[in-house]
Amino acid sequence: PRPFRWRAADRRLARCLSVDDLERAARRRVPTAVWDYVYGGSDGEHAMHRNRETFDRVELRPTAFGQVAEPEVRTTILGRPAAAPIVLAPTGYTRLSHHTGERAVAAAAAAAGLPYTLSTYATTSITDVADAAPQGRNWFQVYLMKDRAVTLDHINEAASQGYEALMLTIDTTVTGMKRKDKLNGFAIPPQLSLRTFAGMARHPGWVANILSTEPLRFATFPEGSHYGRWGMSNELREQAIRPTDISWLKEHWDGPVVVKGVLSVADAVACVDAGADALVLSNHGGRQLDRAPVPLELLPAVVDAVGSRTEVFIDSGVRSGGDIAAALGLGARGVMIGRPYLYGLMVGGRQGVDATLGLLAEELRRAMCLLGAPDIASLGPEHVRLRSA
Ligand code: FNR
Repeated sequence: PRPFRWRAADRRLARCLSVDDLERAARRRVPTAVWDYVYGGSDGEHAMHRNRETFDRVELRPTAFGQVAEPEVRTTILGRPAAAPIVLAPTGYTRLSHHTGERAVAAAAAAAGLPYTLSTYATTSITDVADAAPQGRNWFQVYLMKDRAVTLDHINEAASQGYEALMLTIDTTVTGMKRKDKLNGFAIPPQLSLRTFAGMARHPGWVANILSTEPLRFATFPEGSHYGRWGMSNELREQAIRPTDISWLKEHWDGPVVVKGVLSVADAVACVDAGADALVLSNHGGRQLDRAPVPLELLPAVVDAVGSRTEVFIDSGVRSGGDIAAALGLGARGVMIGRPYLYGLMVGGRQGVDATLGLLAEELRRAMCLLGAPDIASLGPEHVRLRSA
């Protein structure tokens, strides 16, 4: 028989039929400070809300006479097969969402046949994630450090552990200002307020689980180093990234380099000229520059400019198979998801991530069926219209 904990998670997950359901259920599973950190956007949260407003304005236009009963959602990503056009985006502090953290997410991604990106600000090491998902397509997200020797250590560990690709994030000159995180004491070092403490007290199971696992720290850095301590250390990160940094990565990494956080056509061209193998149009889920462009709106122009030379992905606000269909129709090779898998993780650990990924692939399949698109390649701009607000 399955352990009680798993059956309880099964029951919770059985009631979640969409990412929005998972979001509602997830909110009840973690202390408020954790929820605020994962859910929130920067400053006025305009970028975060606009991401969703834009997807909500999508009209999907069926072409009935292409209909098939079982559309094919398999595709290739960076030239290798993927079960669906979905990549799991890097998220820092994943073990706050659930004590099984990055290991559970990587294992779920591997089982679903999708790439998983481990963050530089991961709470599980590069090696431990490879051990948890040895068959997975594991990617490593680089926050370039001023001390390039530290970044080289990351690259070398990722290479020795069989990671497939690097993803350079270029939108984090400084960490975006999230008011609630500040008020909750989500800082370096953590300054737990009475409110935060009370929030934890309402989630004794979460607290007990966290305490039962290894201490939370940035596990991609050596134990005891000041890099590994709790916090987002702007001073340690490179705060002036240049296209030459992309070529530098290409010199030191024998594999694809993906650039994440591109938000203009000019930057997209510069990245590809510098050797980037793929781009992710992203406003970091509305967590960095507030009022930044919405990736879905930027997508057609970028695909026009560099789509024949590179794979273009988008993230920020993807919450359904219909959203994915819209992105693909406008020229994306695939999408990345951040919060959706964290919601699944909160609700049911590994099983919750399985559920999230299964649900999105199923929604995409159904959307394509109804759109009359038999496979990914047949999704085009004729299927998508952005209604005016
Ligand atoms: C992130 N994101 C992120 N990106 C990155 O390059 N390095 C990182 O360490 C993190 N950390 C992180 C933590 C949390 C809690 C979230 C929600 C996001 C951004 C992430 O990779 C991705 O761009 C967004 O999450 C995409 O938007 P959605 O899917 O969350 O709307």
